[in-house]
Amino acid sequence: MTIQKIGRGRARQSVVYRDGALGRRPVVPTDFATLEASARRASSAKAWAYVAGGAGEGRTMNNNRAAFDRWAIVPRMTHGIRGRDLTTDLLGTAMPAPMLLAPIGAGLLMDKDCDLKTARAAAATGVPYVISNQGCDPMEQCAAAMGYAPRWFQLYWSTDDSVVDSLITRAENIGAFALIVTLDTTCLGWRPQDLNLGSLPFTQGVGIAQYTSDAAFARLTSQHRDQVSDGKTAASLGALRTLLSITRNHPGRFLAYSNPGLSWDHLATLRDRTRLPIVLKGILHPDDAHRAFEMGVEGIVVSNHGGRQIDNAVASLDALIRIRDEVGREPTVLLDSGIRTGADVFTALALGADAVLLGRPYMYGLAIAGQRGVEDVIANIIAELDLTMALTGAASIGDITRDFLDGGDW
Ligand SMILES: Cc1cc2nc3c(=O)[nH]c(=O)nc-3n(C[C@H](O)[C@H](O)[C@H](O)COP(=O)(O)O)c2cc1C
Repeated sequence: MTIQKIGRGRARQSVVYRDGALGRRPVVPTDFATLEASARRASSAKAWAYVAGGAGEGRTMNNNRAAFDRWAIVPRMTHGIRGRDLTTDLLGTAMPAPMLLAPIGAGLLMDKDCDLKTARAAAATGVPYVISNQGCDPMEQCAAAMGYAPRWFQLYWSTDDSVVDSLITRAENIGAFALIVTLDTTCLGWRPQDLNLGSLPFTQGVGIAQYTSDAAFARLTSQHRDQVSDGKTAASLGALRTLLSITRNHPGRFLAYSNPGLSWDHLATLRDRTRLPIVLKGILHPDDAHRAFEMGVEGIVVSNHGGRQIDNAVASLDALIRIRDEVGREPTVLLDSGIRTGADVFTALALGADAVLLGRPYMYGLAIAGQRGVEDVIANIIAELDLTMALTGAASIGDITRDFLDGGDW
């Protein structure tokens, strides 16, 4: 199934209505509220807490949605546009629509073979998949499931640089088109839904497949074993030692998978570590965006990690507007956190995003119907984007501009 085959807009509607005439309702609901409710019913309490939960009182998640609600789409009439072109190109990755699947760790909570199913759904639709550093299936297996379909890799900077280099090399070897480095998770945010259940997937060995399949990591763990048996410790092993403990000996201990001291100096070494385009994820302040591009990265993702890190953080859509003003039209700027529908994608593009990352909605599709569920969520969102373009008068992605929006200044 490719996007061409599943069709966009009207073709997608036709499939659903034709099935309806035969007495079949969509297994995967076509609006977000029903999708979310259905996924919740399909999930365990702990899985739901982790995937749907957020930081603190959940205000950042609310802020993300409220920011979308502050903008209204103003369609133009009688524009005479019949066909639309949703394709776009991002850092050398050709895409059927301006959307990628966000990196999501610990997906096993939602379904078995989670990353393989997501990878196959991405390949079937042509939408690029950003494979997570905290995945449940090794990146090589995800890539094998995708054939030549586009994939990126998302890295968390480990406390040991040999692991960083090893993960980057593996990403290059699996044919990743770009490397996303996530900056906003140097430690886990305060997440009451998980805390109230005393539940963290990593302590159960869920979401550590990129490490346990990694040669550099294996070398560290065996060094560590030797040092422990010699009665010595190695300070440089830091968080990796904790990870080792979790996987081998001490389930239940906190996982520090990411370097808490990550700085611009680390990022400055990236260019020498990889030939891939570099994209920094988690940027919210215009000064950080400016600095990133000054350093020479190819792109950024404006993101607050779906409201999972800081309570009452700025909505990523609000940050996008300020960042676009700061860096100008040229640099590649992606957005995530709060994308739920095709109309949201339209709004984000109109406010300056070159593309968006889809997060929780595709995980909900996975929980409801596995690979097919992810495909349906992707197809529905792209169909709605297409219909929104048809009804507003945008023939291509480049046509979607702020002129189509009312932000109260009308
Ligand atoms: C369950 C879950 C796990 C996630 N794991 C990762 C991850 O491993 N790496 C990462 O960069 N972002 C991760 N994210 C953040 C997503 O990439 C993305 O920024 C976020 O889902 C966007 O918010 P939204 O889903 O509310 O739209 C995760 C998000 C969720 C919901």
